[in-house]
This record gives sequence, structure tokens and C-alpha cells, in this order.
Amino acid sequence: MSTTSVPVGADAPIVEVMATMRAMRRLRPDPVPDELLEELVEAATWAPSGGNVQAYSFVVVTDREQMARLAELWRVVCAFYLETFATVAPTRMPAERYERLKDALRFQAEHFHETPAVIVACYSMGDWTRRLAAQWRRFAGAMSSLGPRRAATFTAGLKAFGDRSEAASVYPGVQNLLLAARAHGLGATLTTWHLALEPEFKAVLGIPRGVKTFAMIPVGWPRGNLGPVVRRPAAEVIHRDRW
Ligand SMILES: Cc1cc2nc3c(=O)[nH]c(=O)nc-3n(C[C@H](O)[C@H](O)[C@H](O)COP(=O)(O)O)c2cc1C
Repeated sequence: MSTTSVPVGADAPIVEVMATMRAMRRLRPDPVPDELLEELVEAATWAPSGGNVQAYSFVVVTDREQMARLAELWRVVCAFYLETFATVAPTRMPAERYERLKDALRFQAEHFHETPAVIVACYSMGDWTRRLAAQWRRFAGAMSSLGPRRAATFTAGLKAFGDRSEAASVYPGVQNLLLAARAHGLGATLTTWHLALEPEFKAVLGIPRGVKTFAMIPVGWPRGNLGPVVRRPAAEVIHRDRW
């Protein structure tokens, strides 16, 4: 494994780990020990979740036949992405870097069946939502005390709250998982385009109907170097006191 000069290990400084956590799509086929994969999932569980509901699950795939099935689907979504979305380059990325990224996407698609591990992050509020729905009288009472204008704004706001809360409860864990992977010298990438064919991915993995998938994270030892991320300067994205 080549890591150049980035710090590696469970005690690697967190800020340096964050600054060197790039998407790693070129992975070696060598297996990743199960204990290490479990450590990554444990790091994910340390993240916050809305209402501390902790309704996440992680499907860890290492079986070669399952990986081959995922690889078949992956190639379909990746080819679609390359033909469509990827034709519009990100504004802030030099053309030659974007070409390198697309080369990495093609490499990953061709080698996906060799990916040592894929972790699928899932979330299902299920039971909690049902118990909450039983409290509808309380909601109706609280709503009527707001007055009609605010009640209308609240109704729209609560929809946004509901829509975003599940995702907001699973992605912090995904980020923890990615950081833990990077700290251990592993390469990983947060991916979401499986969502375009989610029912087929779920069928392969036997994920129940009421459980949503949010990210598929290929994990393995990197073929290339770990190194610093390139991002917009903080000064460019900060608005002080108002937009
Ligand atoms: C919400 C989200 C969805 C993403 N989906 C995909 C994906 O489907 N496939 C993929 O290869 N990378 C995906 N990525 C990874 C991004 O392409 C990557 O983080 C970005 O290009 C920065 O790469 P870098 O860290 O190597 O600089 C996704 C990232 C995020 C945050």
C-alpha cells in the first residue's frame, strides 16, 4: 500500500485525516480483514442520528458471488452516469482532473467484481414513525395553537424535516466510516448512484422493502497514493452574519 506522507493509524490526527480523505476508486483486490470492516461500521455508529433513533443498518458485502452480482448492476449505473451526468464537467474542476476522475470511474466499473468489500448504509425509521403517528392528536392540538398562517408554514416545514431527517441521520455515520477507513490507510468512496436502480440492488442484498439505502461504499487498500483533497477555500464559502 502506498500512502506517501499522510498519517495512518487509529491515532492519526483527525484534522489531517479529514484533509486527506479523497474518494479512492482504484482499489487492490486484497481482502480487508473482517475486524477492520467491523471497526469502520462501529465508527459509523458513533455518529449522531435524529432523536437518537439509531435506526441504521449496514450491509457488509465480501462474498465474491454477491460482489459479482453488484458489479453487474454497478456497470449499468456507471455507464449511464458516464453517458449523461458526466458530460457536464463540474465548474470548479480543471478539465484534466475531471478526465482522470472519469478514468478512475471506468477502472472501478471494470474491476468492481474484485472490490474487497462494499458497505451499504441503510436507514429505516419504521417502528418509531409508527409510534409517532399514534400521537397525531397531539400534533393536531399543537398545530391549532400556532394559528393558520404558521400552521401552514409548519406543515411544509415538517415535511422537509421528515424528508431530510433520515438522510441526515445516516450520512454523518457514513462520513465517520470514511474517515475511519482513511485513518486505517484504506481507500473508500461515498457513492449514491445505485439509487437509480435501488430495487435491483436491494433484491441482490435481500434488504427489506421498508428499509432505504443511502450510500454504497466500496472499500479496499488503495492502488494509488493517499493525499490531500483539493477544495474551495473556506473564505469563499463563508457568509458572515447574513448571506
Ligand atoms: C452525495 C454524494 C454522492 C456521491 N455519489 C457518488 C457516486 O455515485 N459515484 C462515485 O463514484 N462517487 C460519488 N461521490 C463521490 C464524489 O464524486 C467525490 O466525493 C468528489 O468527487 C470529491 O472527490 P475527492 O474527495 O477525490 O476530491 C459522491 C459524493 C457525495 C457527497
